[in-house]
Order: sequence, then structure tokens, then C-alpha cells
Amino acid sequence: MQLKHYLQFNDFSREEYEYLFARTRYIKQVFKQYQQYWPLIDRTLVMIFDKNSTRTRLSFEAGMNQLGGSSIYLSTRDTQLDRGEPVEDAARVISRMADIVMIRTYAHDILQRFADHSNVPVINGLTDEYHPCQIMADIFTFIEHRGNIKGKIIAWIGDANNICNTWLQAAEIFDFKVHVSTPPGYDIEPAQIGLKTAGHFEEFANPHDAVRNVDLVTTDVWTSMGFEAEAEKRKTDFAEFRVDAEMMALAKENALFMHCLPAHRGEEVAAEVIDGPQSVVWDEAENRLHTQKALLEYLLLGKTGKV
Ligand code: CP
Ligand code: NVA
Repeated sequence: MQLKHYLQFNDFSREEYEYLFARTRYIKQVFKQYQQYWPLIDRTLVMIFDKNSTRTRLSFEAGMNQLGGSSIYLSTRDTQLDRGEPVEDAARVISRMADIVMIRTYAHDILQRFADHSNVPVINGLTDEYHPCQIMADIFTFIEHRGNIKGKIIAWIGDANNICNTWLQAAEIFDFKVHVSTPPGYDIEPAQIGLKTAGHFEEFANPHDAVRNVDLVTTDVWTSMGFEAEAEKRKTDFAEFRVDAEMMALAKENALFMHCLPAHRGEEVAAEVIDGPQSVVWDEAENRLHTQKALLEYLLLGKTGKV
């Protein structure tokens, strides 16, 4: 089987995502029915975390166990990476002992260098630039609630961060549009994030204009991990970019609200929105588990499962 990594959302085609979502529906159903499904017996996932996590660690660790495999958690602080071992050497060694690796780190280049020297599949568990596993779960969640995402409009309000970049890549694959509204000085960089077209996004200076008549409103923290030194300045710069009930009211009546979590109520989102009836944030979080189990199965076994 050809070695495949999952480092950016556009590493997979639309057809591969459709396969993964079909597998996700099956895997979710057997999980809900307490049926054993152990295709990954004797397989080991190594998870390397250079940043904090609740959902990503939990969903990969629980998911691997539920598929019959096992997982090992490594914090870079406890490994020789923290004492200067080259990432290329770590990749060579870890990939001789593990069947698959998931990494959460800072610059995407670190992940890329690891993948370039790994003999086994490598998954992006979040970098400064991208978070493909999150958007895979989010799109699966949107489809569960609304049937299809093709042709829909999504509003991104806030920082042009890893989650925003990944939504923009996903729009090209699934053929939907992203209305982006970021404060001045925090603009998206379409060429740097590998966008191939200009037709799948539109930029709006005013967030209220961006959400008008959209099918989904989504946002994320004003200060991502690694940018803590800018937190106070960002509170001022992003003050007009809070998703509140007044802003949500401009979207379609049946618009959904998403947030990858963790959230800061009263900053990027008002409690009335994230805890309100249009919010599907808990479904998004749960679907990390199911979609990533399909991803692990696909990267390790290929298209072997029933769809
Ligand atoms: N959404 C997400 O990746 O959450 P964690 O940072 O808790 O893993
Ligand atoms: N943009 C956030 C996402 C956390 C899941 C961060 O990178 O910190």
C-alpha cells in the first residue's frame, strides 16, 4: 500500500472524503450500538504534542483503543526533541516502532519535515497553519444536519488562523464559499495557504456584511496557541468581531453555529450563541472521534471497509 499522510485538508480529494464520511457513518453506528469493531489490533499510534489539547488527544486515544489498537502519548517536553534531537532523526526512529503518528506542533514545516522522514502515515493534529482533522469533523457535522455542503455559504468571523485556513482549503474541495471577515492587519494569505481559485471566498471588512444570509457562522479564539504575547492587543483589535445574537440574526433563519473549541464566552462568541439552539459545537466535538477513526482505518488499511 502506498504511504499516505494527512497534513493539509487538500491532501485528500472529494472522492476520498466521501469514502471517509461513509466509513464514519458506519463506525459511528457500530460504536453507538456497543458493537466491537477491531480492525487495528496490534497497531500502535504515537501522538506527539508540542501544544496543549483536550479533544485531539482524547479522540485519537479513545478512537485507537476502540478500533482494537493502542496509543502512546508523548509530550515534546519529555522527549529528546526538547533537548535538540533533530526532528528528522525522531521521525526515523519513531516510525520504526509505531504504525502511525499524529503530531500537534507549531510551524507546519516541522510536521512536513517529520513526514518526509517517516516510514508510516503522519497525521496533522494542528499546526500554526492548519487543523484538517477539525474541519473534516465539522463538514461531516454540517452534512449530518443539513444534508449537503456544496453551494452553501459559510461566514468566518475573526482571526485568519489555522482553522480559517483549513475552511478555505475545504471550500475548494467541497465547492462551497467562505465569507471571511478579519480585523485590519489579520488578513488571509490565499497564496501561502495553497488556494487554487479565488471563487471560493470573499472578504468583508464588516462582519455583519459577512454573515448576511449564510448557512453557517463560525469563529475561533482571538489568540491561538503560540500567539499568547499578542493576547492583550488582540482583545482590542478583535472587539468588533464577536459573534452575538444580533449578528446571528442576519444569517439564514436555519443557520448553524460552529466553534472548534475551546471557546471564550464574551470574547469571540456570546454565551447566548454558543449555548443557543443554532449551535452544534458538541456534535462537532463528538464527530472528531468518529471521523478520525475512519481516517486511522483508511491510512492504515486503505479502502478495505464496507461503505
Ligand atoms: N478543537 C481542538 O482541537 O481541541 P483541543 O485543542 O482540545 O485538542
Ligand atoms: N486556533 C486555535 C485552535 C485550537 C483547537 C489554536 O491554534 O490555538
